[in-house]
Amino acid sequence: MNITSDMKLADVLFHNYALLPVISRFDIRLGFGDKTVAEVCNDSGMNVDFFLEITNSYVDEDYVPQKDLNSFPVSLIINYLKKTHQYYLNEKIPEIEKNIHRITKTAYSNSDKFRLVENFFREYKIELTNHISREESKVYPYVLEIESAFYKNRIDKKLFERISAYSINDYASEHDNVEEKLFDLKKIIIKYLPPSDMPALSISILTELFRLEKDLNAHTALEDKTLVPKVAAMEEKLLSQFRKQ
Ligand SMILES: [Fe+2]
Ligand SMILES: [Fe+2]
Repeated sequence: MNITSDMKLADVLFHNYALLPVISRFDIRLGFGDKTVAEVCNDSGMNVDFFLEITNSYVDEDYVPQKDLNSFPVSLIINYLKKTHQYYLNEKIPEIEKNIHRITKTAYSNSDKFRLVENFFREYKIELTNHISREESKVYPYVLEIESAFYKNRIDKKLFERISAYSINDYASEHDNVEEKLFDLKKIIIKYLPPSDMPALSISILTELFRLEKDLNAHTALEDKTLVPKVAAMEEKLLSQFRKQ
């Protein structure tokens, strides 16, 4: 069942607890009582249609958007993507890292194998941090510049050269899959790691890895399937306008 604007947000969360970290990216805090999705979004100044598209596609991979996501400003998408990055780097990754460290420290037998997992995750963290930092320092500012030029209907020689040198499709073709390594890590823990002295913690680490992987999948899909085509269309219009000038 699709999430709609007249549903109570509390009911939406009862049915889809996986949305809890998602609503905080919209600056929505708990304490909304019996308010509907529309009321809560209005209170926090959030575009309701954008909220519905993000939450519906998050809980249902086969969800077909009711409204074209491309109708939303790019800045709204960038803002959401950045909040998701913060959630990974400031909350989820440190939490998983802390638990992996705890389980490694208490693994009296086979501690070398647990240390291997710890190192693997440390490398993954570096890789993800670099990926995010590149997007935030290079790709997203470029995207916002394109949108601004598009709305002003103005393109100068500098921007023309920039688009010609490295367009959004170049970014898309280089866009790494940051979920793949997490899959490998889950496989190592499930198939190759000996029994832990803290089985409950092992299960908790695995559960968090599954959740992180799902979240990253939705994040990458938003970058590749929504952001890239939208920016590519704007680039094309700007380039053809420059050639006519
Ligand atoms: Fe990203
Ligand atoms: Fe990315």
